[in-house]
Amino acid sequence: DWVMTDYANEFIESVRKQVGEHGHVIGAVSGGVDSTVAAVLMNKAIGHRFHAVMVDNGCLRKDEAKNVLKRLREDCGVDLRCIDAADRFMGLLEGVTDPERKRKIIGGTFIDIFQEEAEKIEKEFGHCDWLLQGTLYPDVIESISYKGPSATIKTHHNVGGLPATMKLKLIEPLRELFKDEVRALGIALGIDEVSVWRHPFPGPGLAIRILGEVNKKHAEILRHADAIMIEELYKSGHYRAIGQAFVVLMPTVKSVGVMGDGRTYENVCAIRCVETTDYMTADFYHLPYEVMSNMSSRIINEVRGINRVCYDISSKPPATIEWE
Ligand code: XMP
Repeated sequence: DWVMTDYANEFIESVRKQVGEHGHVIGAVSGGVDSTVAAVLMNKAIGHRFHAVMVDNGCLRKDEAKNVLKRLREDCGVDLRCIDAADRFMGLLEGVTDPERKRKIIGGTFIDIFQEEAEKIEKEFGHCDWLLQGTLYPDVIESISYKGPSATIKTHHNVGGLPATMKLKLIEPLRELFKDEVRALGIALGIDEVSVWRHPFPGPGLAIRILGEVNKKHAEILRHADAIMIEELYKSGHYRAIGQAFVVLMPTVKSVGVMGDGRTYENVCAIRCVETTDYMTADFYHLPYEVMSNMSSRIINEVRGINRVCYDISSKPPATIEWE
């Protein structure tokens, strides 16, 4: 509506002022709501003086890099480069089974790649002055006050701070907004509904949803199952009511099945759908049996390498949302 459009225009104006007439800005884009809104906002404010970088770590959802390129570069005109680093990440993850080590490797490698790209951009334009981050108000609060015991259960945050060698100033245009306000801003900026209402996706991506060792084959199997599950959620109209939904693959567990006249001995996966407002507590989503049944039969029939599907009925606490 007009109020939000006015608000968006004011926002664009204030960001433009902050960056100045000659400033260049870089920012990482994940495809999530926050980084998408921040990127479109920045593009509207300063055009191609904003440079966005997306890193494909080989642990993204199906067609994610392709879709983000389409949405941001083709539809919105954002100067976005996508770095295909799947092999680099997979190489570093070889043999790694510990979840926290996976997080450290992925987080650290992401920073390295981002820094390499930032240096290229800096060379190309002579200078780069700002780093854009899609920090929201709850992130600000959490980093100030979140020091309880659960703060050390998982090292969540992708952004492990700025590379100290790059003297970039931080620009965080969303830092006073709550999630619903970011969504409203996204709509006012003309971003499509599907992007605006997407569930959050963790930085380490599918790597923490493949229990144990991550490799290309496992990632491919999980990506396929996950895409089917999400498609069924949209089709059945449940996507919006859910806080987060994903598939977990357990490659160390094998289950016996039957296909035609033959015996199969394949992977097991679990579907996890949760209802939550703040992701600090969550209840498993009461998905109708019919929807579960469609998901299960489609996954088993269409995904080679999975012959059994379970539904996760744990709540947080005591379980967490992710399995690792
Ligand atoms: P848990 O599993 O702790 O997850 O209940 C709470 C929320 O945090 C997300 N999560 C992560 N996000 N990097 C991220 O960017 C991570 O390493 C990570 N681990 C968990 C999780 O998806 C959920 O939204």
